[in-house]
Amino acid sequence: MVSPRIPLVVDTDVGTDDAVALVLALRDPRVEVVAVTAVAGNTSLHNVVQNALYTVEISGAGVPVHPGAARPLLRELATAAEIHGGDGLGDIGLPLRDRIPSPEPAVEALLRAAREHRGELVVVTLAPLTNVALACLTDPDFARSVRRCVMMGGTGRGPGNVTPVAEFNIWVDPEAAAIVFRSGLHITMVGWDVCQADATFSEEELESLRELGTPLAQFCVGIQQVSRRRAITEGRTEGICIPDPLAMAVALDPTLVTESRRLAVAVETRGAVTSGQTVVDHLRVTGLAPNCEVVLRADRGRFMDLVRGALL
Ligand code: RIB
Ligand code: CA
Repeated sequence: MVSPRIPLVVDTDVGTDDAVALVLALRDPRVEVVAVTAVAGNTSLHNVVQNALYTVEISGAGVPVHPGAARPLLRELATAAEIHGGDGLGDIGLPLRDRIPSPEPAVEALLRAAREHRGELVVVTLAPLTNVALACLTDPDFARSVRRCVMMGGTGRGPGNVTPVAEFNIWVDPEAAAIVFRSGLHITMVGWDVCQADATFSEEELESLRELGTPLAQFCVGIQQVSRRRAITEGRTEGICIPDPLAMAVALDPTLVTESRRLAVAVETRGAVTSGQTVVDHLRVTGLAPNCEVVLRADRGRFMDLVRGALL
Protein backbone atom coordinates (compact mmCIF):
# COMPACT_ATOMS: atom_id res chain seq x y z
CA MET A 1 0.00 0.00 0.00
CA VAL A 2 1.36 3.45 -0.95
CA SER A 3 1.79 5.75 2.06
CA PRO A 4 -0.09 9.07 1.82
CA ARG A 5 2.09 12.04 0.90
CA ILE A 6 3.16 14.09 3.91
CA PRO A 7 1.97 17.74 3.73
CA LEU A 8 4.90 20.17 3.86
CA VAL A 9 5.30 23.92 4.14
CA VAL A 10 8.73 25.36 3.26
CA ASP A 11 9.64 28.66 4.92
CA THR A 12 12.53 30.11 2.97
CA ASP A 13 14.73 33.08 2.12
CA VAL A 14 15.55 31.74 -1.35
CA GLY A 15 19.07 31.96 -1.76
CA THR A 16 21.18 29.52 -3.61
CA ASP A 17 20.97 26.67 -1.11
CA ASP A 18 17.28 27.18 -0.39
CA ALA A 19 16.59 26.75 -4.11
CA VAL A 20 18.22 23.31 -4.11
CA ALA A 21 16.23 22.35 -1.01
CA LEU A 22 13.02 23.48 -2.69
CA VAL A 23 13.79 21.36 -5.74
CA LEU A 24 14.33 18.32 -3.49
CA ALA A 25 10.93 18.80 -1.87
CA LEU A 26 9.04 19.60 -5.06
CA ARG A 27 10.44 16.51 -6.78
CA ASP A 28 9.94 14.05 -3.92
CA PRO A 29 6.90 11.73 -4.17
CA ARG A 30 6.86 11.21 -0.40
CA VAL A 31 5.69 14.75 0.30
CA GLU A 32 3.21 17.32 -0.98
CA VAL A 33 4.45 20.90 -0.70
CA VAL A 34 1.21 22.71 0.12
CA ALA A 35 2.79 26.16 0.45
CA VAL A 36 6.05 28.06 0.20
CA THR A 37 6.32 31.00 2.62
CA ALA A 38 8.86 33.72 1.90
CA VAL A 39 10.86 35.73 4.41
CA ALA A 40 13.71 38.22 4.01
CA GLY A 41 17.15 36.90 4.86
CA ASN A 42 19.70 36.01 2.21
CA THR A 43 18.18 38.77 0.09
CA SER A 44 15.23 41.16 0.13
CA LEU A 45 11.70 39.83 0.46
CA HIS A 46 10.96 41.00 -3.08
CA ASN A 47 13.86 38.92 -4.43
CA VAL A 48 12.95 35.93 -2.24
CA VAL A 49 9.40 35.90 -3.60
CA GLN A 50 10.55 36.08 -7.22
CA ASN A 51 13.29 33.49 -6.62
CA ALA A 52 10.84 31.11 -4.97
CA LEU A 53 8.32 31.53 -7.80
CA TYR A 54 11.05 30.89 -10.36
CA THR A 55 12.26 27.77 -8.55
CA VAL A 56 8.72 26.40 -8.22
CA GLU A 57 8.13 27.04 -11.93
CA ILE A 58 11.28 25.31 -13.18
CA SER A 59 10.50 22.38 -10.90
CA GLY A 60 7.23 21.97 -12.76
CA ALA A 61 5.15 22.55 -9.66
CA GLY A 62 2.12 24.75 -9.11
CA VAL A 63 2.70 25.57 -5.46
CA PRO A 64 1.71 29.01 -4.15
CA VAL A 65 4.35 31.37 -2.75
CA HIS A 66 3.17 33.55 0.14
CA PRO A 67 5.03 36.78 0.95
CA GLY A 68 5.97 37.14 4.62
CA ALA A 69 8.18 39.35 6.75
CA ALA A 70 10.35 41.90 4.97
CA ARG A 71 12.56 42.35 8.04
CA PRO A 72 13.25 40.80 11.47
CA LEU A 73 10.89 41.41 14.41
CA LEU A 74 13.03 44.11 16.01
CA ARG A 75 16.33 44.39 14.18
CA GLU A 76 17.37 45.76 10.82
CA LEU A 77 17.62 43.20 8.03
CA ALA A 78 21.08 41.83 7.23
CA THR A 79 21.45 39.98 3.92
CA ALA A 80 24.16 37.72 2.42
CA ALA A 81 24.93 38.88 -1.11
CA GLU A 82 28.53 37.75 -0.66
CA ILE A 83 27.27 34.16 -0.76
CA HIS A 84 24.06 34.33 -2.79
CA GLY A 85 24.68 37.26 -5.12
CA GLY A 86 22.69 40.46 -5.33
CA ASP A 87 19.60 38.74 -6.73
CA GLY A 88 19.85 35.82 -4.29
CA LEU A 89 20.33 33.20 -7.02
CA GLY A 90 23.96 33.68 -7.92
CA ASP A 91 23.65 36.69 -10.29
CA ILE A 92 23.69 34.42 -13.36
CA GLY A 93 21.12 36.50 -15.26
CA LEU A 94 18.01 34.40 -14.57
CA PRO A 95 14.67 36.05 -15.48
CA LEU A 96 13.59 36.64 -11.88
CA ARG A 97 10.76 39.10 -12.28
CA ASP A 98 7.05 39.64 -12.86
CA ARG A 99 5.82 36.38 -11.36
CA ILE A 100 2.73 36.74 -9.18
CA PRO A 101 2.71 35.47 -5.57
CA SER A 102 -0.35 34.39 -3.65
CA PRO A 103 -2.38 37.24 -2.15
CA GLU A 104 -2.49 35.28 1.13
CA PRO A 105 0.25 36.43 3.54
CA ALA A 106 2.76 33.86 4.83
CA VAL A 107 1.54 33.77 8.42
CA GLU A 108 -2.05 33.15 7.32
CA ALA A 109 -0.85 30.40 4.99
CA LEU A 110 1.11 28.74 7.80
CA LEU A 111 -1.86 28.88 10.19
CA ARG A 112 -4.30 27.61 7.54
CA ALA A 113 -1.99 24.72 6.57
CA ALA A 114 -1.63 23.72 10.23
CA ARG A 115 -5.42 23.72 10.63
CA GLU A 116 -6.12 21.86 7.39
CA HIS A 117 -3.42 19.24 8.07
CA ARG A 118 -3.69 19.08 11.85
CA GLY A 119 -1.19 16.68 13.35
CA GLU A 120 0.29 15.86 9.94
CA LEU A 121 1.95 19.06 8.71
CA VAL A 122 5.74 19.24 8.56
CA VAL A 123 7.17 22.76 8.47
CA VAL A 124 10.70 23.03 7.06
CA THR A 125 12.40 26.31 7.97
CA LEU A 126 15.39 27.34 5.88
CA ALA A 127 15.57 30.98 6.92
CA PRO A 128 15.34 33.51 9.72
CA LEU A 129 12.35 32.47 11.86
CA THR A 130 10.36 35.71 11.65
CA ASN A 131 7.34 34.17 9.85
CA VAL A 132 7.21 31.13 12.12
CA ALA A 133 7.54 33.26 15.26
CA LEU A 134 4.65 35.45 14.08
CA ALA A 135 2.57 32.33 13.42
CA CYS A 136 3.29 31.07 16.95
CA LEU A 137 2.36 34.45 18.46
CA THR A 138 -0.77 34.79 16.35
CA ASP A 139 -2.23 31.38 17.22
CA PRO A 140 -0.88 29.41 20.21
CA ASP A 141 -2.53 26.33 18.76
CA PHE A 142 -0.17 26.45 15.77
CA ALA A 143 2.78 24.88 17.58
CA ARG A 144 0.59 22.08 18.96
CA SER A 145 -0.94 21.22 15.60
CA VAL A 146 2.30 21.01 13.59
CA ARG A 147 3.65 17.46 13.51
CA ARG A 148 7.31 18.46 13.14
CA CYS A 149 9.47 21.50 12.40
CA VAL A 150 12.75 20.63 10.69
CA MET A 151 15.02 23.66 10.88
CA MET A 152 18.23 24.60 9.19
CA GLY A 153 19.64 26.87 11.86
CA GLY A 154 21.90 27.30 14.84
CA THR A 155 24.82 25.09 15.75
CA GLY A 156 24.55 21.86 17.71
CA ARG A 157 28.16 21.90 18.80
CA GLY A 158 30.47 24.09 16.89
CA PRO A 159 31.23 27.56 15.64
CA GLY A 160 28.79 29.84 13.96
CA ASN A 161 29.17 31.15 10.42
CA VAL A 162 28.42 34.82 11.10
CA THR A 163 30.01 35.20 14.52
CA PRO A 164 32.09 32.67 16.46
CA VAL A 165 28.87 31.35 18.03
CA ALA A 166 25.94 32.35 15.78
CA GLU A 167 24.59 30.88 12.55
CA PHE A 168 22.96 33.25 10.02
CA ASN A 169 19.28 32.18 10.28
CA ILE A 170 19.31 32.62 14.05
CA TRP A 171 21.62 35.64 14.07
CA VAL A 172 19.44 37.67 11.67
CA ASP A 173 16.41 37.45 13.98
CA PRO A 174 17.33 36.05 17.42
CA GLU A 175 14.12 37.34 19.02
CA ALA A 176 12.07 35.31 16.53
CA ALA A 177 14.24 32.27 17.12
CA ALA A 178 13.83 32.57 20.90
CA ILE A 179 10.04 32.62 20.46
CA VAL A 180 10.13 29.56 18.20
CA PHE A 181 12.35 27.52 20.54
CA ARG A 182 9.99 28.35 23.45
CA SER A 183 6.82 27.69 21.43
CA GLY A 184 6.45 23.96 21.97
CA LEU A 185 7.03 23.20 18.27
CA HIS A 186 8.54 19.73 17.79
CA ILE A 187 11.86 21.00 16.46
CA THR A 188 14.57 19.00 14.72
CA MET A 189 17.54 21.35 14.46
CA VAL A 190 20.01 20.76 11.63
CA GLY A 191 22.80 23.13 12.56
CA TRP A 192 25.65 24.70 10.68
CA ASP A 193 28.08 22.23 12.24
CA VAL A 194 26.38 19.14 10.80
CA CYS A 195 25.87 20.89 7.45
CA GLN A 196 29.57 21.69 7.26
CA ALA A 197 30.40 18.08 8.08
CA ASP A 198 27.87 16.39 5.79
CA ALA A 199 26.68 18.94 3.20
CA THR A 200 29.96 20.30 1.87
CA PHE A 201 30.24 19.65 -1.86
CA SER A 202 33.67 19.42 -3.49
CA GLU A 203 34.30 20.96 -6.89
CA GLU A 204 34.36 17.43 -8.31
CA GLU A 205 30.97 16.62 -6.76
CA LEU A 206 29.48 19.86 -8.07
CA GLU A 207 30.79 19.16 -11.56
CA SER A 208 29.46 15.61 -11.38
CA LEU A 209 26.00 16.99 -10.59
CA ARG A 210 26.25 19.57 -13.38
CA GLU A 211 27.22 16.83 -15.82
CA LEU A 212 23.87 15.15 -15.22
CA GLY A 213 22.91 17.67 -17.86
CA THR A 214 19.28 18.18 -16.84
CA PRO A 215 17.85 21.74 -16.56
CA LEU A 216 17.45 21.32 -12.79
CA ALA A 217 21.02 20.08 -12.40
CA GLN A 218 22.33 23.00 -14.44
CA PHE A 219 20.24 25.41 -12.36
CA CYS A 220 21.16 23.99 -8.94
CA VAL A 221 24.89 23.98 -9.71
CA GLY A 222 24.93 27.15 -11.81
CA ILE A 223 23.51 29.34 -9.07
CA GLN A 224 26.37 28.38 -6.72
CA GLN A 225 28.93 30.37 -8.70
CA VAL A 226 29.32 33.25 -6.24
CA SER A 227 30.12 31.00 -3.28
CA ARG A 228 32.31 28.74 -5.45
CA ARG A 229 34.39 31.70 -6.61
CA ARG A 230 34.63 32.96 -3.01
CA ALA A 231 35.84 29.54 -1.81
CA ILE A 232 38.51 29.43 -4.50
CA THR A 233 39.62 33.00 -3.75
CA GLU A 234 39.86 32.15 -0.06
CA GLY A 235 41.75 28.94 -0.79
CA ARG A 236 39.11 26.70 0.73
CA THR A 237 39.88 23.45 -1.10
CA GLU A 238 37.20 21.35 0.59
CA GLY A 239 34.48 22.96 -1.53
CA ILE A 240 31.30 24.79 -0.50
CA CYS A 241 28.73 24.05 2.16
CA ILE A 242 25.17 23.96 0.77
CA PRO A 243 23.21 23.64 4.04
CA ASP A 244 19.49 23.93 3.34
CA PRO A 245 19.23 20.75 1.21
CA LEU A 246 20.50 18.71 4.16
CA ALA A 247 17.74 20.01 6.43
CA MET A 248 15.23 19.29 3.67
CA ALA A 249 16.66 15.79 3.19
CA VAL A 250 16.23 15.12 6.93
CA ALA A 251 12.59 16.19 6.61
CA LEU A 252 12.11 13.92 3.59
CA ASP A 253 13.92 10.95 5.15
CA PRO A 254 14.53 11.14 8.92
CA THR A 255 16.65 7.97 8.73
CA LEU A 256 19.41 10.13 7.23
CA VAL A 257 20.14 11.29 10.79
CA THR A 258 22.93 9.10 12.20
CA GLU A 259 23.47 10.97 15.47
CA SER A 260 21.12 13.26 17.41
CA ARG A 261 20.24 14.13 21.01
CA ARG A 262 17.09 15.52 22.60
CA LEU A 263 18.35 18.55 24.46
CA ALA A 264 17.28 21.90 25.87
CA VAL A 265 18.14 24.72 23.48
CA ALA A 266 17.79 28.43 24.20
CA VAL A 267 18.63 31.44 22.03
CA GLU A 268 20.79 34.33 23.22
CA THR A 269 19.18 37.67 22.29
CA ARG A 270 21.09 40.14 24.47
CA GLY A 271 24.76 39.16 24.32
CA ALA A 272 27.15 41.81 23.13
CA VAL A 273 29.23 39.12 21.37
CA THR A 274 26.91 36.09 21.64
CA SER A 275 23.65 37.37 20.17
CA GLY A 276 22.06 34.67 17.99
CA GLN A 277 23.81 31.78 19.72
CA THR A 278 21.83 28.56 20.11
CA VAL A 279 22.81 27.60 23.64
CA VAL A 280 22.63 23.79 23.74
CA ASP A 281 22.53 22.15 27.18
CA HIS A 282 24.63 19.06 26.30
CA LEU A 283 25.39 18.25 29.96
CA ARG A 284 21.81 18.91 31.06
CA VAL A 285 23.03 21.35 33.73
CA THR A 286 20.05 23.71 33.41
CA GLY A 287 17.47 21.14 34.38
CA LEU A 288 15.33 22.53 31.56
CA ALA A 289 13.16 20.05 29.67
CA PRO A 290 14.53 19.14 26.23
CA ASN A 291 12.75 21.13 23.51
CA CYS A 292 14.70 20.05 20.46
CA GLU A 293 16.16 17.09 18.62
CA VAL A 294 19.67 18.35 17.91
CA VAL A 295 21.09 16.62 14.83
CA LEU A 296 24.82 16.02 15.16
CA ARG A 297 25.66 13.85 12.15
CA ALA A 298 23.91 12.67 9.00
CA ASP A 299 24.58 10.00 6.38
CA ARG A 300 26.51 12.04 3.82
CA GLY A 301 26.52 9.31 1.17
CA ARG A 302 22.77 8.79 1.22
CA PHE A 303 22.25 12.56 1.29
CA MET A 304 24.35 12.98 -1.85
CA ASP A 305 22.41 10.15 -3.51
CA LEU A 306 19.12 11.86 -2.66
CA VAL A 307 20.31 15.14 -4.20
CA ARG A 308 21.55 13.35 -7.32
CA GLY A 309 18.29 11.45 -7.70
CA ALA A 310 16.23 14.63 -7.55
CA LEU A 311 18.25 16.29 -10.31
CA LEU A 312 18.15 13.45 -12.84
O1 RIB B 1 23.60 29.75 7.74
C1 RIB B 1 23.09 29.18 6.57
C2 RIB B 1 21.65 29.53 6.39
O2 RIB B 1 21.52 30.94 6.23
C3 RIB B 1 21.05 28.94 5.11
O3 RIB B 1 19.68 28.74 5.31
C4 RIB B 1 21.28 30.01 4.10
O4 RIB B 1 20.34 29.94 3.02
C5 RIB B 1 21.01 31.23 4.93
O5 RIB B 1 19.61 31.43 4.99
CA1 CA C 1 18.15 29.76 3.66
